[in-house]
Amino acid sequence: MIFLKDFLESAEAHYFVGYRVHYYLFTDQPEAVPNVKLGEERKLIVRKVPSSNSELDNEADYIFCFDVDAKFYARWSAETLSHMVAVIHPWFYNYPREKFTYERRPESEAFIPADEGDFYYAGGEFGGSVQEVHKLTKTCTEKQSIDRAKSIEALWHNESHLNRYFLYNKPSKLLSPEYLWRDISAGTNEVKVIRFTSVAKNMAEVRPNI
Ligand code: GAL
Repeated sequence: MIFLKDFLESAEAHYFVGYRVHYYLFTDQPEAVPNVKLGEERKLIVRKVPSSNSELDNEADYIFCFDVDAKFYARWSAETLSHMVAVIHPWFYNYPREKFTYERRPESEAFIPADEGDFYYAGGEFGGSVQEVHKLTKTCTEKQSIDRAKSIEALWHNESHLNRYFLYNKPSKLLSPEYLWRDISAGTNEVKVIRFTSVAKNMAEVRPNI
């Protein structure tokens, strides 16, 4: 919740401004959701997890899923739409494939062999048509359960499973790291417009489970 207010306020300033937007927030603490004033035709729908996302089928054409510890800084709009949208991870866009931090243990469902893989995709953001995103999240959740039953946790959790999914189900659009940069204070000459970034966080504070 410490990130949500900033996330929503920055999205109100930059994300699909002028379009109809429904934010779906999946949280275990619905009572703690901050009050953020939203523009016309924009609303926040809060769902306590665990929850099904099938209700979105008749509601929306496209959906983006974001980690909430992130913030918008510049326009993000219809140029990002496609059936299956992936974002190239901001730390690996100029790395050779063998340096990608894919899951390398064959016993995991997220396994990618050394000579395979196109890009290293970020796990904190993906999108597409509701049907495609539903297929993706359902598949990745199932694969994570299979791993869990074998007491294996993929190296980068859902990001590892997402990378495996995209290897065999190619995204129809790739967003460059301008759509997910490292940190707003991490300068770069390569990315001219930083549209969205992760927020620097203190892991010990926000993830008591690690
Ligand atoms: C880090 C990032 C992690 C994960 C990792 C992959 O930069 O903070 O969330 O994506 O890269 O190697």
